[in-house]
Amino acid sequence: MVDINPWSSEVSTDYERIIEQFGLESITLSQIPNPSLHHRRGIIFAHRELGNILQAQSRGEAFGVMTGLMPSGKMHLGHKMVIDQVKWFQEQGADVTIAVADLEANATRGYSLADCRKIALEEYVANYVAMGLDPERTNIYFQSMRPIVQRMGFTLGKRTNLSEFEAIYGFKGDTNLAHVQAPLVQAGDILHPQLDEYGGLRPIVVPVGVDQDPHIRLCRGLAGKTNWFNVNDRKNGGLRITVSVMDENQNIVGGDKATVKAVFASIVDALKGLGYSDIMADAKHGIVDLPAATQRDRYPIRMSLLKLERSMGGQGLLQPSSTYHRFAVGMTGGKMSSSMPETTIFLNEELKKMEKKFKRSFSGGQSTVEEHRRLGGNPDVDVAFQYLKFFFEEDDAALEEVRRGYVAGDILSGELKQMTIDKAAAWLTELSELRAQNAHLVDNFLAPDAR
Ligand code: TRP
Repeated sequence: MVDINPWSSEVSTDYERIIEQFGLESITLSQIPNPSLHHRRGIIFAHRELGNILQAQSRGEAFGVMTGLMPSGKMHLGHKMVIDQVKWFQEQGADVTIAVADLEANATRGYSLADCRKIALEEYVANYVAMGLDPERTNIYFQSMRPIVQRMGFTLGKRTNLSEFEAIYGFKGDTNLAHVQAPLVQAGDILHPQLDEYGGLRPIVVPVGVDQDPHIRLCRGLAGKTNWFNVNDRKNGGLRITVSVMDENQNIVGGDKATVKAVFASIVDALKGLGYSDIMADAKHGIVDLPAATQRDRYPIRMSLLKLERSMGGQGLLQPSSTYHRFAVGMTGGKMSSSMPETTIFLNEELKKMEKKFKRSFSGGQSTVEEHRRLGGNPDVDVAFQYLKFFFEEDDAALEEVRRGYVAGDILSGELKQMTIDKAAAWLTELSELRAQNAHLVDNFLAPDAR
């Protein structure tokens, strides 16, 4: 078993096994329009239901991207990876929602809400501005100031139990309950943008590192359990819609014969509206079959059933989509972590310190120049090369040239480090200029309830 959890200090890099064990789907580059550097280089390697987002995009329909941050430290290159992805989705047409997880930071890290606000604005939002997110289409809010998020977290709690938390997160009897509450509130973060007041029903994608998948699984499970109508594969081909009776809807979908019949008539109507003619409704067994429907039809069918659920008084929540990125190696060769400053570069790092970190960083070169010329270096474990690949060299051809030169022994470790230092210095300098120039925009990123 690969043990993945958001609080572990270990990180597994056995990505193939992770895909298999957690049932992720691999990313196929050809499916992604305008692939980013992360896609092209296989850094974003897996997803859950990204097809919903791509379908919405190709039909010109609304879709959103969501992320959250614990305002508990300084932003570093690991955070940049997520923001770059958010920015990419924004460029593809997504609206952006960002949660400041101040309740989580307050409960699990002991920061006051006032400190959280200060850190969020001065450290995180200032960098988002500099990294070029569009303030017109970015909404940043605080968990503590958006009661609906807390309320959703609370009510979603009834769809799970401690055994599930044990299975997903490995919680034990002595687990602090803040670690139970935080993922529930986080599910509120991820799902609430679909509410009418926050943009309405639309697919929302959450780009994360693989260590965050437990949160995504929990959230998708919770959303799925609220759904009145489910879309499943049908044994003899096509899709089968089933109806879930629960407390909230038992007077409607589990009501008297006439009411149930009306529900099924509405389902059939909704499906006819999508253009299906071969619809087999069986109200008695709570089933509607669509023998001709394909996998691609899942998304439009699901959306129209969620709309129907909403019209009948349900929440109509679509399970979030997600994408997964690989982690850049930490500068000392292990995990990158803000609690170990020598493992990463902060977005406001002094150039001298950055240079020092690269000079000391783990190298894939040989121990003598002669050996290096003869055997070449190993770019796969070389921090300087990996940081060009993950962060600093935008040009694929230029990166490939460096890789070849290093493998051939033409480029020495010191030379490679210097290339990366120069690129990193240019990037850090520009970022700090943009932070200063655009500081006045910070407020424009805040949702009305965050001001
Ligand atoms: N728990 C996340 C962290 O530790 C922060 C977070 C809160 C979040 N809400 C979110 C991340 C919603 C993604 C989506 O950093």
